[in-house]
Amino acid sequence: MRKPTVNLPSFADFSKSSQVLFNIKRLADRPIPTPDRTLSLRTSDLAPADAKVSVWRTNGDAHHWRLFKPTGIKGDIICNGSLITTGSSNCIISNEPTMSESVGQTIKRTFTNATSTAKVADLSRDTIDPTPSGPGSILTTDHGVKVSDTDNWLKVSGDGTGPFLLEDQIAREKIHRFDHERIPERVVHARGTGAHGYFKVFDDSASKYTYAPVLTDPSRTTSVFVRFSTVQGSRGSADTVRDARGFAVKMYTEEGNWDLVGNDIPVFFIQDAIKFPDVIHAVKPEPHNEVPQGQSAHNNFWDFAGLQPESAHMVMWVMSDRGIPRSFRMMQGFGVNTYTLLNADGKRFFVKFHFIPELGVHSLTWDEALKICGQDPDFHRKDLNEALENGNPAKWTFAIQTIPEADEHNFDFDILDATKLWPEELVPLQPIGELVVNRPVDEFFPETEQVAFCTSHIVPGIGFSDDPLLQGRNFSYFDTQITRLGINWEQIPINRPVCPVMNHQRGGQQQHRIVKGEINYWPNRKNVGPPVPASEGGYAEFQQKVSGIKQRVRGAKFQEHFNQAQLFYNSLAPHEKAHLIAAISFELSHCDDPVVYRSYVTNVLSKIDVDLAQAVARNVGGPVPIESDVQVNQGKKSAPLSQIYYMPTKPMIKSRRIVILVADGFNAVEVGAVKALLGSAGAVSFIVGPRRGEVFPEGSAEVGVMVDHHYEGQRSTMFDALFIPSGKEHAEALMSNGRTVHWVREAFGHCKTIGAIGEGIAFVQQALALPELSFAPKLDRDDVTTSYGVVTAGKYGVVSAAHDALTIGAGPKGFVANFAFEMSKHRCWEREMDGLTSKVAF
Ligand code: HEM
Repeated sequence: MRKPTVNLPSFADFSKSSQVLFNIKRLADRPIPTPDRTLSLRTSDLAPADAKVSVWRTNGDAHHWRLFKPTGIKGDIICNGSLITTGSSNCIISNEPTMSESVGQTIKRTFTNATSTAKVADLSRDTIDPTPSGPGSILTTDHGVKVSDTDNWLKVSGDGTGPFLLEDQIAREKIHRFDHERIPERVVHARGTGAHGYFKVFDDSASKYTYAPVLTDPSRTTSVFVRFSTVQGSRGSADTVRDARGFAVKMYTEEGNWDLVGNDIPVFFIQDAIKFPDVIHAVKPEPHNEVPQGQSAHNNFWDFAGLQPESAHMVMWVMSDRGIPRSFRMMQGFGVNTYTLLNADGKRFFVKFHFIPELGVHSLTWDEALKICGQDPDFHRKDLNEALENGNPAKWTFAIQTIPEADEHNFDFDILDATKLWPEELVPLQPIGELVVNRPVDEFFPETEQVAFCTSHIVPGIGFSDDPLLQGRNFSYFDTQITRLGINWEQIPINRPVCPVMNHQRGGQQQHRIVKGEINYWPNRKNVGPPVPASEGGYAEFQQKVSGIKQRVRGAKFQEHFNQAQLFYNSLAPHEKAHLIAAISFELSHCDDPVVYRSYVTNVLSKIDVDLAQAVARNVGGPVPIESDVQVNQGKKSAPLSQIYYMPTKPMIKSRRIVILVADGFNAVEVGAVKALLGSAGAVSFIVGPRRGEVFPEGSAEVGVMVDHHYEGQRSTMFDALFIPSGKEHAEALMSNGRTVHWVREAFGHCKTIGAIGEGIAFVQQALALPELSFAPKLDRDDVTTSYGVVTAGKYGVVSAAHDALTIGAGPKGFVANFAFEMSKHRCWEREMDGLTSKVAF
């Protein structure tokens, strides 16, 4: 039997964090030149001649290998004498001591060990790691009896198959358990994904406002679980629909759980919680036909929004690019409601909570979001897991806005109205800490599905305000958890606090806690479970003076609905305004009742801005308002309301996804160099070619390069940027293929960075056919030309690569430096604003 060998180049050739793919060639036996381990492989003679090995390097000492055996390979894979996988199954191994562990798990474990927190330790009590040598070595029933056959129901059998026996307790248990696997999905925010992490404050600067140690003690690392979600769709809906995103953080503090249950948008649709069922019924699928799924583009939502003008401000946010984030990791988070902080001197402050992402605030384009709904409905959850498994934790700066109690009424809006934000020009942000999400869940259901948040979960030093939305939320969440998870939902491992819990609440379904002794009440003769005075850490409410008339009303300032909608619109960059107009037009075009789309223009948009109202009205066939009928735009702006305010100060491409488009005859040296350099800046690149298998570079008909996907296997929508290397034959093949031409046009249409070298330039030039674009003129020079985010260089050699190793930035030299710089801007919106994207079919 011939054995394949793996040729791994020296690790020194590759910079930190790079991921490089190699071929396994079925040649003669040869040892693998790695410092510490020899990997030998055996496949059958009939097997295809390739498998894929990823080599990872996460730090200076540890070398991680990942071997991936494509389904086509029929033989066994043996590693150091142990059988890794047989037949045609896939396998992933690493050179860590546990050979069955994937690199993702390895990195995850490395991170987890580094940032191990109280909650991780707590969950380990309930976590089973079913390795073949441990608990996974046996199969048992739920009552612990070993199972000898899990494939055949006990039946009466003679010549043929006879009837089943109800006696078979093993089969019955298996089916019973299956029948009851589902629990009710969340009534809102059903679709989501979660991960673990930690929270830390930088210093004790917030002690001016609060005595809560989680916000003031810099020596603490508080475990967190974060769940991101969409609002409208059901559990199986797509990730990239237009919607607000939930940003719910459970902090397992030493004083009890603090749940900050926020969104990626700082305001809400309604002011009073009693309207929540109405707004949610209006936006969810219509009751007569359960259509549409996860979308607000239908009569009922816009009917409600037009008649409930307090929703105007939030509707502007959802219709802006904020409604279609590029990634959960690139969203801001807001506590939305007004809470209070209480300091050690007994002084109270109103507070709003903010999370600001390290990577900037970025969105998809609407065309892209729509396509991803079908092409990869799990786009956001995969994005989060890919980043975490590649060792790229997601980070946010945590900031607060505070208003002393005495200043509550000094604003022209009510600071307790959740349809209003506190402009940063009036109330500056104070960065006090950091939220890091770094560890994917081990199992979705027990963690992400069973996690349950409650706005009423606060800790000493933090309090509520009279915000009428928050007051209602404080009732609603606990109540809904009872339906979804049962009254003892706070004992479920992911929900239980890491501090001691003791009280006289007892019983209920799924009670897990066993409390010894005869006492279950207070007061009791044995002083069991006594209340704790505030001076010793007991929760104490602020002594707020309250007087008034019992009535169903809202305050005077709650009556104004359009000033901040206008502030938001005015603050957007031109491309953001254009996107917002297009989005409202798209949605209203989906409303077929003229009453709905006409009244939204008249009742709402005309109160915000004349250009906005007129543009939408023209698009959707509404009454075009004349300027004198439109409320005067006061022209106020607030810079932090635009996404461009959050561009990272230092250009970065960390965790960005780049696709390298190739055909046979491409320049492999360029691909290797570009990939390694992008990898060294934390980006991940993927090669897409005519087939998943070997694609042969220029001058090498024998030794191919394994590519990740074929042209139809992925679409440009899955990536942030596109690169086409040089190679004559390859460029000609790409030019004559409609699908690859579409790859370029679509990436261009979505304003993504496109890079090309040598003959790759002609392909891009021909695919786009836009005289407005300029390209590197000479194929024998490495000078870089950048035009509307299209970066080209005639050639790429050692000198250029040396330049690129140093920087991400714009300049006449350094293809990768320029390519990465353009990518760091997220998208080239000038393309759109100058009308180029509308000239290209995508
Ligand atoms: C400031 C406005 C609001 C924000 C930011 C908000 C945010 C959220 C988030 C992030 C979740 C998902 C939690 C998770 O990941 O499991 C959620 C769920 C939920 N929200 Fe809200 N919400 C708001 C207003 C309301 C109101 C006014 C009500 C009711 C009066 C409400 C009732 C619910 C319910 C019932 C759930 C499902 C909870 C579960 O089953 O876990 N929300 N909300």
